[in-house]
Amino acid sequence: MILVTGSSGQIGTELVPYLRERYGRNEIISSDITDPTGTQTGYIKLDVTDRESLERAIEKYKITDIFHLAGILSAKGEKDPDLAYRVNLNGTYNVLEAAKRHSIDRVIIPSTIGVFGPETPRTGVPSITVLRPRTMYGITKVAAELLAQYYFEKFGLDVRSLRYPGIISYMAEPTAGTTDYAVEIFYYAVRLKRYTCYLRRDRRLPMMYMPDALRALVDLYEAKSEQLKIRNGYNVQAYSFTPEELYGKISERINGFEIDYRPDYRDGIAATWPESIDSSDAAKEWGFKFDYDLDKTVDDMIEHISEKLGISGKHFA
Ligand SMILES: NC(=O)c1ccc[n+]([C@@H]2O[C@H](COP(=O)([O-])OP(=O)(O)OC[C@H]3O[C@@H](n4cnc5c(N)ncnc54)[C@H](O)[C@@H]3O)[C@@H](O)[C@H]2O)c1
Repeated sequence: MILVTGSSGQIGTELVPYLRERYGRNEIISSDITDPTGTQTGYIKLDVTDRESLERAIEKYKITDIFHLAGILSAKGEKDPDLAYRVNLNGTYNVLEAAKRHSIDRVIIPSTIGVFGPETPRTGVPSITVLRPRTMYGITKVAAELLAQYYFEKFGLDVRSLRYPGIISYMAEPTAGTTDYAVEIFYYAVRLKRYTCYLRRDRRLPMMYMPDALRALVDLYEAKSEQLKIRNGYNVQAYSFTPEELYGKISERINGFEIDYRPDYRDGIAATWPESIDSSDAAKEWGFKFDYDLDKTVDDMIEHISEKLGISGKHFA
């Protein structure tokens, strides 16, 4: 039985159905900090900062594997560093400690490009590199990565991690990260044909589309343990682009779309992150690949967001 923590977020909203489809409806327990709604099945309320509840859930549902998604992302973490510390660091420690005590088979923890900092190389960053982040999010995620490696080496717990870049998706709207503009821009383009971007026009960042992000996580989960040499985090990305380049791609498809730039504190966070990362360790050791290039991503996003907002294709170029 697989437990997913933080399952109501941007990634969990899509990962849970993906796992249910792959391993069976009744094989997945989803969980988050909020009370279940009437329509949710296989969902429990679970706060990862509460170790006792976590251990009780592991016992009660006979959990064998954990996808640990619960977290406070970069932008929200800078607004509330104390919460980010408690959820990201104490929460991850609780998950690892509970997993060790209950002999969990595999623990999957997504990490992030937020672990990098200004001293990291700017482009083509390898998986093993300088990690000196300047945000509470990054600091807690570096610590979580090192704990993952520690629990693997010291206790033999099979912990696996990859560093996601910004994730583009249309199901759950992200609200807490620095790369959220790359989702938000589509809603504004489709609905209003106008967007004010909180990053500089030339702020290049690594990104990937949700279907590739889900497949990568599951490929890592299914890989043979002995294939995996890196336990703290494999770099993965599909492409990297600037807001101006993304705007260019969208305006090729939506006539009259306009953008302006008003950089805020999130641009300061992004300025400490690299422009691109090197996914070759992930490709070599567990076969990481991606299907969606930027054009395919933009086509798919516009199609789905138009459907979601009930706006017909005639609206576009
Ligand atoms: N989305 C991205 O672009 C991105 C990029 C890199 C890494 N990641 C990583 O992926 C994971 C999931 O990210 P996401 O984008 O789905 O984030 P999100 O902010 O959309 O979702 C996080 C979820 O965690 C839940 N949560 C917060 N505190 C909790 C607690 N104490 N106990 C249980 N649940 C709690 C929230 O309610 C939320 O539903 C995180 O570890 C994040 O660091 C995401």
